[in-house]
Amino acid sequence: MSATFFPQDIIIKKRDGGTLSREEIEYFARGVVNGDFADYQATALLMAIFWRGLTPQETAWLTDAMMRSGEVIDLRALPGAKVDKHSTGGVGDKVSLILAPLAAACGLKVPMMSGRGLGHTGGTLDKLEAIPGFRTGLSVSEFRAILQETGVAMIGQTPQVVPADRKLYALRDVTGTVECIPLICASIMSKKLAEGIDALVLDVKFGRGAFMKSKERALELARDMVATGRAAGKPVRALLTAMDQPLGRAAGHTTEVIESIECLKNRGPADLMEVTLALTAHMLILGGTARHEAEAREKMSAALSSGAALAKFRAMCAAQGGDPRVADDYALLPTARQRIEVRAPASARGHVAGVDALKIGHAVMALGGGRAAVTDRIDHAAGVSDLLKIGEPVTACTRLCTLHANDPARLARARELVEAAITFAPVAPPAAPLVQDLIE
Ligand code: URA
Repeated sequence: MSATFFPQDIIIKKRDGGTLSREEIEYFARGVVNGDFADYQATALLMAIFWRGLTPQETAWLTDAMMRSGEVIDLRALPGAKVDKHSTGGVGDKVSLILAPLAAACGLKVPMMSGRGLGHTGGTLDKLEAIPGFRTGLSVSEFRAILQETGVAMIGQTPQVVPADRKLYALRDVTGTVECIPLICASIMSKKLAEGIDALVLDVKFGRGAFMKSKERALELARDMVATGRAAGKPVRALLTAMDQPLGRAAGHTTEVIESIECLKNRGPADLMEVTLALTAHMLILGGTARHEAEAREKMSAALSSGAALAKFRAMCAAQGGDPRVADDYALLPTARQRIEVRAPASARGHVAGVDALKIGHAVMALGGGRAAVTDRIDHAAGVSDLLKIGEPVTACTRLCTLHANDPARLARARELVEAAITFAPVAPPAAPLVQDLIE
């Protein structure tokens, strides 16, 4: 017979600094879904966890219990290694759109469940939906079939997967308990482990445009997630990557899809390719399709130069209802009615010293390409392109970026934000490494 618990006892135990048992944690994760744990009791426990923390063992139990609160996708019957990547998100982070078809072209199965953008960070699902017809709301059986057929499928979280996180995230969002590392770890890892993966690579971003502002906090989160993966018996590696300036030269939806396709054509911006190739290499190594980084790089280079990675992208678009011709004709993507270039002031001399990713993210929102609430509609055509990078030379009237908007009234605020985001210095600042740490 299973033990009977009272939510208030569990709350008091954690409030007073105790360690919860596996059964108590399972009761909590089940209870938030079936109503045994009322919302007010769940939020009290979340706040107690916020202050008292969770041990690594408690975090692993919570992750496991949350994962099992709904459907765990079983991909064991599919041949090949199933490996995914998760990013904590940033401005211009379109890595998934490039990495998923690239990794599939190198022999992996990539079952990717992604989220929507909120606030200044964009979401992979929203970017994919800029492609006319592309469906991200597939059933699990469609997901499995497309994965089998093309090696890559990119969808939104189905309501059946990790319902405990859906509930807990909504409560955390309105009770000041989002910024809690064990809760973030359990939230992310429960969703990734429920995808039926064999291994996972994490991109934990830090800096102005990231969820984690400091490297120390990002490192703590990365270590917790790697340890939680290990506790679940899955190999997980994390890269710590800088997010002070946007990744690549584009932010938005159509603008980022175009830049991603350019990367698949082997002509993307260096910083975006650097992060994408580093993450994909670790996926190939964990999935066993490359023995070491040099071999992974050879395979990726061949997949990009032969057009195999782009062909996977087209195949994925077609399988998910999207128009694969966008890879050849960018005019098929939603295009903004207004396009203006923002230029450096006449006094500008020297180099770009900084491009504040947070302000660029806010500029995309000002143009209509972001959402403040999950229910907001976004304008896929709105965004920024041609953005200068730190260190590039500037003189009077150099183009700093291009703004895209359907509503001309939105351009003035966006222009103010990008002008404030981009700063200049007489000499180029020393280049900081983009990939700063690997946690295994
Ligand atoms: N992303 C998630 O999925 N969960 C969190 O708690 C934070 C970011």
